Amino acid sequence: MRETSLSPDDFIYPLFATFGKNIRKEIKSMPGCFQESVDRIVKHAKEVHSLGIPSVLLFGIPEHKDETGSSAYDPHGVVQKAIKAIKDKVPQLYVITDVCMCEYTSHGHCGIIEKGDVKNDPTLELLAREAVSHAKAGADMVAPSDMMDGRVEAIRIALDEEGFSETPIMSYAAKYASAFYGPFREAAESTPRFGDRRSYQMDPANRREALKEVSLDIEEGADIVMVKPAMTYLDIISDVKDAFDVPVAAYNVSGEYSLIKAGAKLGWIDEKRAMMEVLTSIKRAGADLILTYFAKDAAKVLNK
Ligand code: PBG
Repeated sequence: MRETSLSPDDFIYPLFATFGKNIRKEIKSMPGCFQESVDRIVKHAKEVHSLGIPSVLLFGIPEHKDETGSSAYDPHGVVQKAIKAIKDKVPQLYVITDVCMCEYTSHGHCGIIEKGDVKNDPTLELLAREAVSHAKAGADMVAPSDMMDGRVEAIRIALDEEGFSETPIMSYAAKYASAFYGPFREAAESTPRFGDRRSYQMDPANRREALKEVSLDIEEGADIVMVKPAMTYLDIISDVKDAFDVPVAAYNVSGEYSLIKAGAKLGWIDEKRAMMEVLTSIKRAGADLILTYFAKDAAKVLNK
């Protein structure tokens, strides 16, 4: 009678690539998640694959940050190296890359800054260069998370021009300006130095605007659309699923993960049950894919 069932096949597991060798540094606010050098990330990728999880989402923590985030499109950048190494050693694992500037800019914003403001249009070219450099390194799919207007189209055109017309785009289409990204910003070392992301991420109070954002991204060429965060936006996942006929992804973000981990550590919540309930609710709401730091823990439960 059960209407909704989970499978490790539903999950995408985020990984954080950092420079150096033999580094595996646990992220304090995200127990069980690590910043890892390329050699260690490959081992981790093997473990993910062996659990039946088909895909990973890669983030990079570069050695060098600057105003224009030049490490983001450096062919020898940390993400580019991690993509190559994973595709070389675990070719069956589907590698998606997060395309954004915030991990690579000295100011921590997702776009180019001019006179104290994030500038939409000049950012598009850099995002397109970043996406192409990921595809050249072997990425199977790119996932722009910056929320600049027009970036899906800019990336689609650039990929096509460079011979990557088969590389799909999963857009972070309805991405809200959320307090639940806090722990991630420690993980990716991408907290903005000034201001916040409310000029480009969505207002949590808006529901219809999500449909507009999603439809624009689909028009521009998005193959999969994402709603983010997940737990506090189940209504949005459901709306998007009903209104469009492309696959819907939902990002069960860092803060959602950390809250359950913290509650469990204090003995206030049953971690396993809470985790499975949250993931089930995201799928029940309509998500075809779930990006989650719980992927490995949940796969272990499901594989039993
Ligand atoms: C980059 C990006 C963020 C997340 C994914 N990609 C952070 C942000 O927008 O501040 C958040 C992921 C999470 O919290 O787990 N723009």
